[in-house]
Amino acid sequence: MADVCAHGLSIAYEGVDRRVDALDGLALSVADGEPVAIIGPSGCGKSTLLLAIAGLVAPDSGELLVGGTPVTGPRLHTALILQDFGLLPWKTVAHNAGLGLEIRHVAAAERSARVAEALDRVGLAEFANAYPAELSGGMRQRLALARALALDAHLLLMDEPLSALDALTREDLQGLLLDIWRQRGHTSILVTHSIEEAIFLGRRVVVLTPRPGRVAAIVENPEMGDPGFRDTPAFYERCAELRRLLAAEGALESVQSEAPHGEASAS
Ligand SMILES: Nc1ncnc2c1ncn2[C@@H]1O[C@H](COP(=O)(O)OP(=O)(O)O)[C@@H](O)[C@H]1O
Ligand SMILES: [Mg+2]
Repeated sequence: MADVCAHGLSIAYEGVDRRVDALDGLALSVADGEPVAIIGPSGCGKSTLLLAIAGLVAPDSGELLVGGTPVTGPRLHTALILQDFGLLPWKTVAHNAGLGLEIRHVAAAERSARVAEALDRVGLAEFANAYPAELSGGMRQRLALARALALDAHLLLMDEPLSALDALTREDLQGLLLDIWRQRGHTSILVTHSIEEAIFLGRRVVVLTPRPGRVAAIVENPEMGDPGFRDTPAFYERCAELRRLLAAEGALESVQSEAPHGEASAS
């Protein structure tokens, strides 16, 4: 079980001369096996929320439960994937894919079997002995995903994992993330700043307010995962709905201010 439940979650960063409230009384619940996307203005606390769920940042107040248990540190079956891949350049692809298992003291024979299966699943089997520098950006993110699969993560947390990739590679990996979720049914929380990506990969899309972050709105997106959803009018309508909500939160101010004077904004 990897349902996630936050109530009154507040987290602040104490600096030398100031304090930054990142999250303030955030409430969110994600069901076991549910794919959720989180989107919101830059600096609103999205990464802080993921780090807290991963057990890497402690809440100042409020409740945060995974699988019904308070989060007190990193969990065995939670994996976190970041934009910068988190790979060790001096280790091979196979070694990088097995890092999570190594840290958790899984025996070598089982480790190599699980790594081989995970690399095969993400299409990197023939690169097992290569080094990260020999991989493209898309392949590096496949490798980060293989590490999570080798861990048999029940809860997959992803912080803008595809943001550094070109558009085609990004779409390719979005498809892979969807396939893997369909196959495994893990709980998935994806932070993204792409409206289309949120609608493609989130059965519910959570919109956060500007900092300190709280939930501003939730977009229900029941067709997520349906074959061909991206090509349907419903997909575009859902994206437009999400864009309107983000504009209301001021997340699209720079875009709106580019509208020529005298023209009504498209809301
Ligand atoms: N380690 C830190 N120390 C101090 N302030 C931080 C730290 N991490 C994040 N912040 C601040 O907390 C706020 C939320 O940050 P973050 O969670 O990274 O937002 P997001 O991922 O939505 O852009 C920002 O104002 C950021 O500057
Ligand atoms: Mg962030």
